[in-house]
Amino acid sequence: MTDTAPQPAVLYVGGVPPHALDALHQHFRVHTLADIVDRDAFVAEHGATVFGAVTNGHDGFSTDWMDALPALKVISCCGVGYDAIDANAAADRGIMVTHTPNVLNADVANTAIMLMLATSRQLLRDDAWARSGAWAAKGAAPLTRSIEGATVGILGLGRIGESLASKLQAFNCQVHYHTRTRRDHVDYTHHTSAASLAEASDYLVVITPGGASTQHLVNREVLDALGPDGTLINVSRGSVVDEAALVDAITEGRLHMAGLDVFEHEPTIPEALTRSDRVVLLPHVGSATVETRRAMGDLTVDNLLSWRRDGAVLTPVPECAAH
Ligand code: NAP
Ligand code: 8YV
Repeated sequence: MTDTAPQPAVLYVGGVPPHALDALHQHFRVHTLADIVDRDAFVAEHGATVFGAVTNGHDGFSTDWMDALPALKVISCCGVGYDAIDANAAADRGIMVTHTPNVLNADVANTAIMLMLATSRQLLRDDAWARSGAWAAKGAAPLTRSIEGATVGILGLGRIGESLASKLQAFNCQVHYHTRTRRDHVDYTHHTSAASLAEASDYLVVITPGGASTQHLVNREVLDALGPDGTLINVSRGSVVDEAALVDAITEGRLHMAGLDVFEHEPTIPEALTRSDRVVLLPHVGSATVETRRAMGDLTVDNLLSWRRDGAVLTPVPECAAH
């Protein structure tokens, strides 16, 4: 007897690595959002089979699409941050949102350390010094600063923040942190506000989630508390830092340096930052290694396979975990 059950389908928004897209095609029928010209016609033809959506932390998934797809059960996000997806709205609709925690902790923490070293040791200036002939013409480059033994304030001591804190022990750094809930299992110094943390820190590393609860958590007051000898590192979301206040602090010399992987309006970066030699800029690449993206892609697909096999996902976001 021939099995006539239709192949389970997913709606693909974008942003998973090629091997994971291949795996999706191997297991499911894949419809690509960008190819859909008439949503109603698409839903009428395919809505009954689309149980999953596959997206990433930047593109998210709209509540309009959640409402349009009658059989949608899982939104699988390739990325740990899911502020572009309304997870409460999904939970209300009985849809599970999954993400990719832990597998990217090490590389994002390493990116924060790379930015600490690149800013403190003036990597870009000294690379230019070596290439441009300034070394021969002017002699040795000016001295830089060390991160050895520095006080590092970690704003958001979660999975990535804890990985960073333990790596910083190799540099003999003093770790302080601010979270809304004190972490009793660690010995690092807790602060009850971001400003108090910044005041105590040589480097303030931002690694909270994005979204409404952290919008502009790093504002002018926090930047001034960090002060003219302080350095801001942001590997979380651009929304957590008031970018206009940061531009002012950098251009007015009220902040020593900034190392930034994320921006408020990606991929746009304010010209005042691209022109400044007091910043090191990255195009949101905290997790962007072959190894880590492979693991993120695998987990994105495995959450869908697990749902099909067991009716349960592997890594739900907290808003959906109780459902
Ligand atoms: P996590 O384990 O959930 O940790 C988040 C931490 O932030 C927790 O310690 C939390 O503590 C704290 N926090 C949340 N809201 C806060 C607030 N309003 N004030 C102060 N602290 C707050 O998350 P994670 O896995 O470490 O990831 C963190 C974020 O990094 C992601 O959400 C994503 O946005 C970003 N990220 C960026 C990249 C990149 O490529 N640059 C890569 C991966 C992740 P409390 O709840 O106790 O406050
Ligand atoms: C990715 C990230 O750039 O996981 C996150 O939250 O910001 C990064 O790992 C991105 O989200 C990939 O979708």
